[in-house]
Amino acid sequence: MTDKLWGGRFAEDITQDVLDYTLTVDVDERLVFADLWQSVAHVLMLGARKIVPAEAARDLLGALLRLRDQSENGRLRLRPELEDVHFNIEQQVIEDLGREVGGHLQTARSRNDQVSTDARMYLRRVQLDAVEANLELIGELLGFPEEELLAILPGYTHGQAAQPISVAFWKTAHASLLLRDVRRLRGAFDRTDESPLGACALAGTSFPLDRQVTARLLGFRAVLSHALDATSARDYLIESASAFAIGGNNLSRMAEEIVVWSGHEHSLVEVQDAYATGSSIMPQKKNPVVAELARGRAGRTAGTLVQLLTMAKGVTLGYSCDLQEDKPYLWHAIDAYLSTLRIVAGQTRGLRFDGARGEELCWDNFSTATELANHLTAGGLAFREAHHVSGALVSALIRRGATLRDTAASAEILAGLGHPVPEPVLARIFAPRTAVTGYTSPGGTSPRSVTAVRAELRAAVTAYGAWLEGTRRRLQRAHDAAFGAARDVADGADLGKALDRIAPDLPTLYGDLS
Ligand code: ARG
Repeated sequence: MTDKLWGGRFAEDITQDVLDYTLTVDVDERLVFADLWQSVAHVLMLGARKIVPAEAARDLLGALLRLRDQSENGRLRLRPELEDVHFNIEQQVIEDLGREVGGHLQTARSRNDQVSTDARMYLRRVQLDAVEANLELIGELLGFPEEELLAILPGYTHGQAAQPISVAFWKTAHASLLLRDVRRLRGAFDRTDESPLGACALAGTSFPLDRQVTARLLGFRAVLSHALDATSARDYLIESASAFAIGGNNLSRMAEEIVVWSGHEHSLVEVQDAYATGSSIMPQKKNPVVAELARGRAGRTAGTLVQLLTMAKGVTLGYSCDLQEDKPYLWHAIDAYLSTLRIVAGQTRGLRFDGARGEELCWDNFSTATELANHLTAGGLAFREAHHVSGALVSALIRRGATLRDTAASAEILAGLGHPVPEPVLARIFAPRTAVTGYTSPGGTSPRSVTAVRAELRAAVTAYGAWLEGTRRRLQRAHDAAFGAARDVADGADLGKALDRIAPDLPTLYGDLS
């Protein structure tokens, strides 16, 4: 027999290299808070259902509270030889109380329901942090100064100048898409927020568990009822990775625009000095390294999604060790995503757009040719006809080496084409500002439309902010209630009474899986 917690049937211990290959203590550091909270909830339930004797429950809670104090003081060290956080905590409880009492902790619980419970609890925090970081970035984007409503940028399709837009229009576009990332994170949160605890190894148990009370003590809004599903499921985690990957991709696309537009050829935007670095050899360089890395780090979030899908695809229902590969890369993806969101918010605050430069480019790059077609259409010509006339003008101007700035040349060419337009009219409709001001359709680039969209987006930010705050409060209340009851019981209070006292602080559960 070995002295491992599982050692009863073993004649010899695992070798050091097997231990090194299989342990998860390093990635489990992030789960310590969840494993302790979960263990407290589990013991309160075991005591309430008289699955363990009242005195044992009291002592177990005392030992768990001591471990929590140690953890908060930075003195809880996970020992690698104990493989993972679950065995570490159980072993330390046993070392504290002796096997006769400490050995009750793992009654009617398996590391299989335990690990998924921990991971869901950690992931909930991260999802909420990501919602908060997104809302902050969105706030930066929506906080543009009023003059950016008419600061001009060339809008691109196919990487070619298309139509003029405003800086505010560009910023609200990114805010709009990031808000969808927030929605996606919230959806992932809802499906993460279900308790697998009490599923045990895979098949449930003959002990009379109360899975609802542990779910509520952990702040969950639902019990993930089916034991085999609860221990096997990793879709909640893949879905989160997917939300992180999509979010990372979105940030990467914005970063690409900043990198390209801050180059000399565009000179449309400049990042604040603090977000750029210089070259070791070329004194003139100002490299937008934060934007470059925000673009590059999307490789980590995307890679993690592929890793998780690949890892999970062949795992039959019921826990297999493949599933412990769900954490290391996900942790990296989380770190990459959260740090990118936060630094991009800071970078956004310091971006300086050059609207005059944008306007100049739009005069030169024929961005307002559509406006001539629209003008002729308003005069009664079919749009397709007008498109041809306008295209013929562009072609003739290019042949002459001229642009839409040359209104005299344009007027002459148009007269020749049989569609005369007075020069002052051309000067007005070709002006990038006229186009931007005129695109008043809902969702368009006009100041009026952008202001309306900003109001909608701000209302959504407020609503998600309220949801975020309410959800964090719910988790915190359940946490404080569970540890408060544990403290009372450890100090000698009656367990049933302690649970009754905290009942109002625990969330109610959704009645069904809707
Ligand atoms: N450390 C494991 C993991 O990260 C915990 C579950 C292990 N369960 C087991 N039966 N080996 O997934």
